[in-house]
Amino acid sequence: MSDSCLSAAQRAAFEREGFLVLPEFVPAQRCLALRERALELARMHVPPPEQATVFTADGAARHAAERYFLTSGEAIRCFFEKDAFDADGRLRGEPHLSLNKLGHAMHDLDPVFDAFSRTAELAAVAREIGMSAPLLLQSMYIFKQPRIGGEVVCHTDHTYLWTEPPSVVGFWFATDDATTENGCLWALPGGHRLPVRARSKLNAARTATELEILDPAPYPSEGLVPLEARRGTLVLLHGALPHLSGPNRSDKPRHAYTLHAIDGAARYLDDNWLQRPALKLRGFSA
Ligand code: FE2
Repeated sequence: MSDSCLSAAQRAAFEREGFLVLPEFVPAQRCLALRERALELARMHVPPPEQATVFTADGAARHAAERYFLTSGEAIRCFFEKDAFDADGRLRGEPHLSLNKLGHAMHDLDPVFDAFSRTAELAAVAREIGMSAPLLLQSMYIFKQPRIGGEVVCHTDHTYLWTEPPSVVGFWFATDDATTENGCLWALPGGHRLPVRARSKLNAARTATELEILDPAPYPSEGLVPLEARRGTLVLLHGALPHLSGPNRSDKPRHAYTLHAIDGAARYLDDNWLQRPALKLRGFSA
């Protein structure tokens, strides 16, 4: 599968719908190895419980939390579920089982994530959907933990990773089975042709992000379709495609790994939140 990955019909479907579901793209064993590594990284990088409250507190602590987030484009950082804390801001459970996600440079800083993220098959897919010089900008390992896994509201990835012209593509890998019960993706077929409603960017002081509303109309709430995915499935998401995922109220985890790639031929804006002054962007080649 290293020369050509997608059929003409699959390429046409991606252009028409703005997403493409590719079951069995990655062998289950490789997904399980990535899953194991993510849990190891979570244990290695999670802050001790007495510091974990920093992410829900106010004032100076909130400023520290913003910095922790804004500098995570070149690091491996831990982000908690808000339902992981009790009313006093203390973690209810074990820290590494309370995480929402790891982000945002595992693909460049961890050898297991690097190898998962850079394969001939992924390079071929990127080429075949029209990326001329793909660069891996951001990786996220999303835990969507049983019972506390939070929802992700409807958004487009271009809102957060803005290039001119738009170029970001999401490569979303199911490392667990994702179903409507445990919070699978939902997407709006053809919605990538709607104007993008908002842009998230750094404020003038570069200390926090702010949302610039370009069109106040909400995305349509009708017509979204669930993208249920067995472990090993790759879902491609056009950067302008409205998508979301529900909360996980089930007792099953819903781990997933997401890579966001931009086209090096497009201009990446310097007031996007994610900046990598020290870590050069690389493509899909090992
Ligand atoms: Fe997204």
